[in-house]
Amino acid sequence: MRAYDIIEKKKRGIPLSREEIKWLVDGFLDGTVPDYQMSAFLMAVYFRSMTEEETVALTEIMRDSGDKVDLSAFGKRSADKHSTGGVGDKTSLIAVPIAAALGAVTAKMSGRGLGHTGGTVDKLESIPGYRSSLSAEEFLSQAERTGIVITGQSGDLTPADKKLYALRDVTATVDSIPLIASSIMSKKLASGAANIVLDVKYGSGAFMKDKEGAEALASLMVKMGQSCGRATSAVISNMNEPLGYAVGNAIEIKEAYEILSGKCGKVSEPLKELSLVLAARMAALVKGIESEEAYSLAREALEDGRALLKFKEWISAQGGDTDFLDRAEEYLVEASYTELLSPADGYICAIDAETAGKAAAVLGAGRAKKDDVIDMRAGLEFFKKRGDRLKKGEPLARLFSSEPSKLSAAADMLLSAVSFSDTRPADEDIVYKVI
Ligand code: URA
Repeated sequence: MRAYDIIEKKKRGIPLSREEIKWLVDGFLDGTVPDYQMSAFLMAVYFRSMTEEETVALTEIMRDSGDKVDLSAFGKRSADKHSTGGVGDKTSLIAVPIAAALGAVTAKMSGRGLGHTGGTVDKLESIPGYRSSLSAEEFLSQAERTGIVITGQSGDLTPADKKLYALRDVTATVDSIPLIASSIMSKKLASGAANIVLDVKYGSGAFMKDKEGAEALASLMVKMGQSCGRATSAVISNMNEPLGYAVGNAIEIKEAYEILSGKCGKVSEPLKELSLVLAARMAALVKGIESEEAYSLAREALEDGRALLKFKEWISAQGGDTDFLDRAEEYLVEASYTELLSPADGYICAIDAETAGKAAAVLGAGRAKKDDVIDMRAGLEFFKKRGDRLKKGEPLARLFSSEPSKLSAAADMLLSAVSFSDTRPADEDIVYKVI
């Protein structure tokens, strides 16, 4: 086989065989297929797409390219949750304890934040003592004892995806549905859970800018998960503005803890609703029950405090100081902070999620490069969101940073993310569809 012929075939829109895809991916991993040929192939896929058969083949080849997590000890109880990435997205911190209170076991390795999106492990590491690196034995035994364990990536899961993703990132080929689907699903399949719930975002802060694209991606991933023997469901959700009031690390832990403690302000309502829907999907798959029943069970577990108990049990099992959860506000205000005031009278008609995420990164809450160190106190707190009315000079948001010199540039950036109008914009649902 020759890479040239495979690229030529894809360029002409002729479907590739599994053998051809495997030959190309293996060659790319061992260095015999150079970056320039793989880049040409990726661009051909971007324009010509892939059939479902090709996408499943690519997914399975990437799944099998490295280590796998064995969660078979948990049988049908294991449930994974994945988000395609958003700003202020702390749903895992809320949905996973709710699902665990209903019998799901979530044993997962989570990503770190890069660019304008945050990562669950970074947020968890803002809790003093939280251990994001555990041995394989600790990982499994904590999952068995508490139903929840979340660590950073370890081992060598899906190296083919890692190498391909890095190339896609610099060749403008990230936003291709078959490439995103195979990238996400290869990792989910290698991660071993019997049940998979995907939160597929659409909107200004997401990879997929519109509902139609998100639905196409979600349907494809659900089909692929099911064809690989995993119960899979997707929730298509709105990422047109940051989720909840908090964007950052410690501040997102604070918001999640408040919701679990039954303290949910108006700005956090969409976050609570999405977390409940995700937890309900996890419980529905694990228990084999209908969505409506699972949703009311999830609500009960949140309202009667069982989810909060699970959350504390998990954080404490993983070495985290649960007293910190009640001290988070004091911790945050030890940073310097400033308020962003509304420049005019009017309704907020949009808060661009991507720009808000970048403003949080400027404050120190995110990374521009993989090895940048995060400022756990840095972040944003929104007092008002889309649809709220503000008077000129009224506080819209608070910005935190351990470095006072960063506040003013971040405030200007955040202001550029907000648009105002004289009329109230139509409401948008947080959940568009469940598949
Ligand atoms: N997340 C992934 O893991 N892969 C993609 O291609 C896009 C989002």
